[in-house]
Amino acid sequence: MEAVININITDLLGNKHQIKVPTDMGLNLMEAIRANDMQIKATCGGMAMCASCHVVVCNSRALPPMSEDEEAMLDDAFLLDIPYSRLSCQLKLTPELDGLEVKLGEGTGE
Ligand code: FES
Repeated sequence: MEAVININITDLLGNKHQIKVPTDMGLNLMEAIRANDMQIKATCGGMAMCASCHVVVCNSRALPPMSEDEEAMLDDAFLLDIPYSRLSCQLKLTPELDGLEVKLGEGTGE
């Protein structure tokens, strides 16, 4: 299994970024986005309480199922009906996610 994975991210301006992320540090996707100098609001700091870290998953990967908290927050923010919406702070980066493609979603900008 890869110790470093590649994640492809399209920002709100449509610019594409490929970041390399270690999988042995317990990072979530929101933290990896911030660590690579991309803007993402993520107001609550990863508590699944704001939805301003919303991403849309663009390619299929073996994503872990949503927790009740994540699903409830997306529902409250009217984002649950957008296919493949996830809270990036709730997506732990594991080797299975190598090659994941996401775009930053509604509400993540200033
Ligand atoms: S940072 Fe607030 S829900 Fe993810």
